[in-house]
Amino acid sequence: MDREQKEIVQEFFSNDAENIFEKIEKFSSLMIRYSCAVREIRTKFEVLNEELSFRAGRNPIESISSRIKKPVSIAEKLKRRGIEPTLEAISSSLNDVAGIRVVCSFIDDIYRVADMLAKQDDITVVQIKDYIKKPKQNGYRSYHMIVEVPVFFSESKLLTRVEIQFRTVAMDFWASLEHSMKYKKQSADRPDIAAELKSCAETIAATDARMLGIRKRIEALESEEK
Ligand code: GTP
Ligand code: MG
Repeated sequence: MDREQKEIVQEFFSNDAENIFEKIEKFSSLMIRYSCAVREIRTKFEVLNEELSFRAGRNPIESISSRIKKPVSIAEKLKRRGIEPTLEAISSSLNDVAGIRVVCSFIDDIYRVADMLAKQDDITVVQIKDYIKKPKQNGYRSYHMIVEVPVFFSESKLLTRVEIQFRTVAMDFWASLEHSMKYKKQSADRPDIAAELKSCAETIAATDARMLGIRKRIEALESEEK
């Protein structure tokens, strides 16, 4: 933690020092709620992947990863948005405390799997950002979905938000490298570098579309033979 981060965390816990343990306990309990929500969604994807791969003979999902936002990043984000740092503010204003990344094989797998999750009756879709149909200015492509899932505890049922990022292997390749090259590096924003990165994103997107085309041709040929 650098000095500024320490100050933010201190501010978060400083209002009444006597209650610090109570606050830590409540914060930990909220984080448990997020990690349980992540486990539920993860299981849903694992079930879909197993069923679909049994039916079609190939895995639509290549990999699933997840993370819970670190306390320091939660505090920084609230501060950046000028929101009072309370537990209530975390669950009501942040959508990405719990995050899951689903890396699919082909572009159509993304829409298929996302749609199957959205249709499950305990899932509420809160927001969708389709950066595949409308890529970001820098070339970033992914399908983002914020959902609410109920987490059942001994005495309560708590609707909990989870951010899901769907990408193909190719989109993930670009986004991971772009993130690691840009992270805290000013010169990555130079126009020539930004243009080169965007051009790579477009080449990758074109290849993604061609790979899907190849799969569809093979499938068509196979079904002709039957
Ligand atoms: P955040 O406040 O950063 O969470 O963004 P947002 O609330 O505007 O949501 P958005 O859906 O645009 O982005 C959410 C997440 O997607 C980010 O935290 C990143 O993980 C990922 N993301 C968005 N844009 C980019 C990008 O240009 N490059 C990479 N590598 N990842 C991105
Ligand atoms: Mg985020």
